[in-house]
Order: sequence, then structure tokens, then C-alpha cells
Amino acid sequence: MKFFIDTADINEIKEASSMGIIDGVTTNPSLVAAVGRSFREVLLEICDAVDGPVSAEVTSETCDGMMAEARELSELRDNIVVKIPLTPEGLKATRICRDEEIKTNLTLCFSATQALLAAKAGATYISPFVGRLDDQSGDGMAMVADICDIYENYGFETQVLVASVRHPMHVLEAAKMGAHVATCPLSVLMQLTRHPLTDRGLAKFLKDWEKVPK
Ligand code: E4P
Repeated sequence: MKFFIDTADINEIKEASSMGIIDGVTTNPSLVAAVGRSFREVLLEICDAVDGPVSAEVTSETCDGMMAEARELSELRDNIVVKIPLTPEGLKATRICRDEEIKTNLTLCFSATQALLAAKAGATYISPFVGRLDDQSGDGMAMVADICDIYENYGFETQVLVASVRHPMHVLEAAKMGAHVATCPLSVLMQLTRHPLTDRGLAKFLKDWEKVPK
């Protein structure tokens, strides 16, 4: 299972990468806005800091506009994946990207049937947003389970990238379902590292160590 970090903050990316657990990065317009720097500058810095795929989102709403952005983004660095909203125009752009060998991440997916369309259009990744669906009294992880089943049934190569991850249980469930990737904020990655028994056990070992004759 791969872990991407869901941020545009280079310091967070470096912190998580130094633990050896990061395979890629996802960004979105809100995350880029939060760092208050130019998109291009931030994106290039991220791409140079990580070897794996870096998702960069288009902001046009028409297929033509998305394609102009997709071509420009994909020229910047080899590891850029173009993030495209899951709309009819987005599906058109996804098919063209597939034909032009531009990698895509279909974002804002809230149903398994949307994910089916993304796979048929040739998306490289599908991003079901589990946390935002849970927020609306939906069941984000049930959607992911359906997507995994459907992709398995038909042998689609589109990778399931679980997004809008809010807590460790989303990651555990995603891993049990065989999702290819989970993209997590640094806060969730740090939660995954922690266990009270680890802290308690370490404190005891260090206390006992003080008794060892030096
Ligand atoms: C994924 O690619 C998105 O950037 C992200 O996971 C959205 O998460 P949020 O619902 O916490 O904003």
C-alpha cells in the first residue's frame, strides 16, 4: 500500500518523507492557497523534493481549458499527475490525457458509479473523498469497498487513491480493502505512528536503563 501526503506545505512533506513512508503527494487549490505562495513555485519545489507522483489540480471547467492546463503541467516535471474534477468535461479531458499518455487523478469522487466512469475514461487514479462523504451522513469506506470490487470484477487498472482521510480507521479500512493508496494529512500520518503502550513502554525502558551500572 502506498502513502501519499495531502499537503502543499514543503516542510510537512520533508518531515513525513524523512520517516521513509511517503510515496507521493497530493495537492488541491485549497491546500495551495493555504501556503500563500505561487502555484508553480510550490509545485516545482515539491516535485524536486519527492521521487513519486505529485498531483496538481486544474482549475478550468471546460475540457479545452483543462487540456491546456494538463499539457502545461505535465511538461513541468515527469512526476506530475494532473488532477481533474470528476465532471462530464473532466471525463472528456481524462480520455484525451490517456491518449496523450498524461497521468491523471480524478478528484471529488463521491460514488462508486462515478469511479466506474473514471476507470472507463482511462484515469490513472481515482480519488474517493471518504471524510467529506462521512460528513454528509454517507459511508465513505463503503464507497471505497464498492470501487475496489467493481475494479476487480472488470480488471480496471485505475488505482484507488483514498482521499479526504480524517483518522487512522480510514487508513486501516483502506488497507484491508486493498486500496492502492491513501493520501493523508501529516496529522493523520503522525497519529498512525503513535500508541500509548509504545510511549509507556519506552518510558519504563528508559527509567530502568538509569539503574544499569555505567
Ligand atoms: C485529495 O486529493 C484531496 O486533496 C483531499 O484529500 C481532500 O481532503 P479534505 O476533505 O480533508 O479537504
